[in-house]
Amino acid sequence: RLELRCERDGADGAELRLDAHPALAVSRAALLPPPGGPGDAAGQALPVESRPFASYGSALHITLPQAPRAGQLLTLLIDYEAGEGPGVCWLSPEQTAGKQKPYMYTQGQAVLNRSFFPCFDTPSVKFTYSATVKVPEGFTAVMSATSWEKQKDNTFVFKMSQPIPSYLIALVVGDIVSADVGPRSRVWAEPCLIEAAKKEYDGVIEEFLVVGEKLFGPYVWGRYDILFMPPSFPFGGMENPCLTFVTPCLLAGDRSLVDVIIHEISHSWFGNLVTNATWGEFWLNEGFTMYAQRRISTEVYGLPYTCLEAATGRALLRQHMDATGEEHPLNKLRVVIEPGLWGVNPDDTYNETPYEKGYCFVSYLAHLVGNQSKFDAFLQAYVNRFKFQSITADDTLEFFLEYFPELKEKGVDSIPGFEFDRWLNTPGWPPYLPDLSPGQQLMRPAEELAELWAADSLNMEAIEAVDIMGWRTYQLVYFLDQVLQKSPLPEGNVKRLSKMYPKISKAQNAELRLRWCQIVLKNNLEAEYSKVKDFLHSQGKQKYTLPLYRAMWGGSEATRALAMETFSATAPQLHVNVQNYVKKILGLGGAE
Ligand code: BES
Ligand code: ZN
Repeated sequence: RLELRCERDGADGAELRLDAHPALAVSRAALLPPPGGPGDAAGQALPVESRPFASYGSALHITLPQAPRAGQLLTLLIDYEAGEGPGVCWLSPEQTAGKQKPYMYTQGQAVLNRSFFPCFDTPSVKFTYSATVKVPEGFTAVMSATSWEKQKDNTFVFKMSQPIPSYLIALVVGDIVSADVGPRSRVWAEPCLIEAAKKEYDGVIEEFLVVGEKLFGPYVWGRYDILFMPPSFPFGGMENPCLTFVTPCLLAGDRSLVDVIIHEISHSWFGNLVTNATWGEFWLNEGFTMYAQRRISTEVYGLPYTCLEAATGRALLRQHMDATGEEHPLNKLRVVIEPGLWGVNPDDTYNETPYEKGYCFVSYLAHLVGNQSKFDAFLQAYVNRFKFQSITADDTLEFFLEYFPELKEKGVDSIPGFEFDRWLNTPGWPPYLPDLSPGQQLMRPAEELAELWAADSLNMEAIEAVDIMGWRTYQLVYFLDQVLQKSPLPEGNVKRLSKMYPKISKAQNAELRLRWCQIVLKNNLEAEYSKVKDFLHSQGKQKYTLPLYRAMWGGSEATRALAMETFSATAPQLHVNVQNYVKKILGLGGAE
């Protein structure tokens, strides 16, 4: 049921157009009588037609009896069934951790929820929602909502009382249970994972929320819960309001991947409160969130550690730009998304640029201000000014210049080489990089060790003098990125490295496993190809899966065969979008 208010007299006549998808089978659309008024409760049936729109969805054309007037309220009832669309994932018991019961989840961002329900599937429109979900005995439903209530007959009722864009509506139905981890937080997971989930984050979430509130203003969403998804969930985390979805890879046993949680919490202000009005300016969500994440991290873990984490992010941006070419049109903060059948799929713009180049741009704005607490105050004012709205980068930058009139006067938006316009519209490496040298104390030993391992003849004495047992996960990640950059290493070195550091080559931590697999492939370490296969069988995160398939496809005949074999075994477990990206990499005719 859609409740709409007409904004202005319709030039579009009496037609309502909604986003939908061929996987949505619409059986009826009707106009309901005004609430409390007379009229047939089933409503007046309306002509409805689905027309092609884009590769990622269709347009639902509904003909109204007459053109609505500005201010007029319309209530529409649409009967439909959601099937095998990209936004709605139906998992068999084998695809869950417990392997006993089936599971379903939805993933809306960027433009997938149009295969879940017909709507205005654009981040520029915000609305509240409620849902009544009836599930079979033995299942629990949870949604990204302010409140939920279990009624009789396995029926769950949800209400989101703050306006949100369509991509933030999310539903999970499965055999899931919860455990408290803080005054406003619990973890949700399948029963076999709940102990590990509780242990991973018990007592740590609240501090992040409190620091976030201190920096960016009130947390408006009520609860902050975390749901551990099945292994095929394609993202590290998804900031569904009140209920972040995360990959089970975060269950590292040592909280070492908690930066993902801090990231999703940061979206509570940047993304979920202040939202990019179009997916062409996705950096407004992700770049500001990376900045906010690192502000919280700095407060909680200190500057050296945060700089180390940021350096691993910079390495990812370097790898991405090397792989795509700096001048690639997606390596701009403002991406042109042509609509229509031959246009760009907004989901294809997901890469490191909006995250890490976006982070550099926000850091540059902070650098122009020159004072951290003044910039923090700006961020808080920015959230307060635009909360519950969807905005463009022009809105952001205009507000920045208004907030700092002395900077506006100086013309900081047009300093040669650093023009705001250049930041937004020119592809390539960021013109300004924040200073990460406070992380040197953690980075230097990792850099030096990587140097040692890249030598033609190994200086084992020097290598053995370095004790990596006490290193943090991100120090190891940083070390491995350096090794990868220098790979292929001289013959035999990686084999020795593997033997010397089982902590790395036998790691269970997903970030370490990814890097180790990349190193194995780049160095043709055939003896350990099975680790690549095992890792790809164990999870389906897009950011882990695609780089490994690219590396395999770009490698030898043996790694190509490994890619084909692994993909044919794991494809059914992967999210359909990830499946298609892999197909494209392997020349199997998917869409990247
Ligand atoms: N909102 C994103 C995930 C996303 C992006 C889903 C685009 C669909 C389309 C989420 O906040 C995110 O960025 N997750 C990262 C976490 C990381 C940057 C700490 C991820 O999944 O890797
Ligand atoms: Zn994000």
